[in-house]
Amino acid sequence: MKHFLSLDQHRRDELEIILDLSDKLKRERRENEFLPLKGQTWAMIFSKTSTRTRVSFEVGVRELGGQVIFLSASDMQLGRGEPIKDTARVLGRMVHGAIIRTYAHQDVKDFAAFSNIHTVNALTDHAHPCQIVADLMTIREKMGNMDDKVITFVGDGACNVATSWIFAAKKFGFQLRIAAPKSFSPDPLILQNENHNIIVTDDIKAAVADADVVYTDVWVSMGKEEESLNRQELLSGFQIDMSLMKLAKPGALLMHCLPAYRGMEVTEEVLEFHAKTIFDQAENRLHAQKAILAWLVS
Ligand code: CP
Ligand code: NVA
Repeated sequence: MKHFLSLDQHRRDELEIILDLSDKLKRERRENEFLPLKGQTWAMIFSKTSTRTRVSFEVGVRELGGQVIFLSASDMQLGRGEPIKDTARVLGRMVHGAIIRTYAHQDVKDFAAFSNIHTVNALTDHAHPCQIVADLMTIREKMGNMDDKVITFVGDGACNVATSWIFAAKKFGFQLRIAAPKSFSPDPLILQNENHNIIVTDDIKAAVADADVVYTDVWVSMGKEEESLNRQELLSGFQIDMSLMKLAKPGALLMHCLPAYRGMEVTEEVLEFHAKTIFDQAENRLHAQKAILAWLVS
């Protein structure tokens, strides 16, 4: 049974198949003849809020011929303490796949193990693999081959999006620089890497110098709201503005997984200047999500 839980669980060639399929589904979106989920019903179980991931998966399942049920975890018995393994065994007998957004990564792993249906990680505290597929798609679309590119992640280097970037760098070999305060550095175990293509620093200017892509995420991830003030203080030197972007390569992309908080991780000016890239990136969530689903059932 194929699942999509974290990029480190997949070979590079599998990810390339998904990326190529994302491009194809984008080109052929209006043709509507590719229906690999026909006759299937997929459940989406979300414990955290979502705009892009929710809409792209709901539209994606429908465009691939399937039906979708959106379940807010707080409306399910799960929210009253029913174990994930019991929820998984019930849904496994009723639906064909599940797309889950939650806190503990172990919960999506347990769901996959107990449900015996395709399971997709739509974001956990640990990883956000679907986001990075759309991001890689966007970089390939705008810059061609990404192997020789320098991608700089700025902000909370220990967050789910940064972790998925680390896994992607290990698979694809591009240079990943993470600019983060020391207290928001990635877990050294996740960083272990014999290719030496990942650099972690708290020197934001050095990390952005000559980068092809500068990438950021919110300073306060979902579930970390109590740390909000402390995070704003510690990350205040890691805001991306127009002058910082001038240090990157001419024509460098600014990317953001969104939602964006102006005045925190980005200024209004820099976000609007790079809005075309950032909203192309958001649109690509749909095409990438469809490719992940189609790959799972192939
Ligand atoms: N980038 C992303 O996952 O956005 P949502 O939280 O809106 O789904
Ligand atoms: N790191 C962010 C990503 C939002 C898409 C969070 O987990 O809230």
